[in-house]
Amino acid sequence: MGFDAAALPVFPWDLLEPHKAQAARHPGGLIDLSVGTPVDPTPPLIQDALAGAADSPGYPPTIGTAALRRAVVDHYAAARGVTGLAPEGVLATLGSKELIASLASALGLGPGDAVAHPTVAYPTYDVGARLAGARPVPADSPGQVPDELGARVKLVWLNSPANPDGRVAGVADLAAWVEWARARGAVVAADECYAALAWDEPWASAGVPSLLDARVGGGSLDGLLALGSLSKQSNAAGYRAAWVAGDPALIGRLAALRKHMGMMPPGPVQAAMAAALADRSHVARQRETYRRRRRVLLDGIGQAGYLVEGSGAGLYLWFTTPDRQDCWRTVADLASLGILVAPGAFYGAGGAAFVRMALTGSDAAVAEAAARLTAA
Ligand SMILES: Cc1ncc(COP(=O)(O)O)c(C=O)c1O
Repeated sequence: MGFDAAALPVFPWDLLEPHKAQAARHPGGLIDLSVGTPVDPTPPLIQDALAGAADSPGYPPTIGTAALRRAVVDHYAAARGVTGLAPEGVLATLGSKELIASLASALGLGPGDAVAHPTVAYPTYDVGARLAGARPVPADSPGQVPDELGARVKLVWLNSPANPDGRVAGVADLAAWVEWARARGAVVAADECYAALAWDEPWASAGVPSLLDARVGGGSLDGLLALGSLSKQSNAAGYRAAWVAGDPALIGRLAALRKHMGMMPPGPVQAAMAAALADRSHVARQRETYRRRRRVLLDGIGQAGYLVEGSGAGLYLWFTTPDRQDCWRTVADLASLGILVAPGAFYGAGGAAFVRMALTGSDAAVAEAAARLTAA
């Protein structure tokens, strides 16, 4: 085990720079919808809680304050229909990304082991496998894991709602992975940072199922970890406020390691997280803001002749052309309108004909993007 930086791919976002420069030459200015970084203010109640905890002379607990862990447990009960979680099964993290990148290593995976992740996916699942020296195995269902690798998979990453394509895993999809993984002694980790953003039915009404749902794990959290984050749902990406929850034995192992490493969110951030999780109204308001922007962008994309796939939940629109042209041509076409999107190739070979547009533009930017698309 060890961080093997030499095994990492080139950071791909640099490849987008020429297109960004082109888009910036549009007379109306650049509209950057390539990354999902929130643009609306952090809600005052969260800012106030942060400021209220600014006097913070002592070290915060690595695992999270009792108030924070209780707030996470209550959040799962109120917002996710999960009742089997205990405070001992909650660990605060510095945003989700660091845990995603380090989990395979933290669980002791190394050469000879494998990590399954969605075929079209947030790149950090692959990065985390490589950092551990393990082999990334793209698979969207247990049946897609090659037989010869099945026994080597020690960690399965799920992401629902998914970045970039907005697909949602139902209870049966999640349960199939859990059954498969438990039969092999593998851990299942579900990245659920977009759970609050569901647009299509049944998810908009029923909610997006969590990996920790009793219907998924048969009432047991053994081997299961769910990741949540305030970055998107609370416009708090700058706070680096997230958590991992589930199997108390796994959480204990991670917490013990992270104590040695000093990996604890700052005390004022932990206080802000607890306050944010206790308030569901700001999340609902932000969801309505994104719902509105999504409709405007969907309309423009449709008028311009693009075809949207998936995208029934989450923070992105995932689309292609009728002839499924290479994503870099679509990136260039949209850059000529001053609109920057992410090429699907960043998310795996299966994304090569798609681009990803984030809903994270201001109302004015989104309206302007839709107008340019419609005029084109
Ligand atoms: C699928 C997915 N997981 C995790 C993250 C990281 O979020 P955080 O801000 O909590 O590190 C992102 C960020 O865009 C993401 O898209």
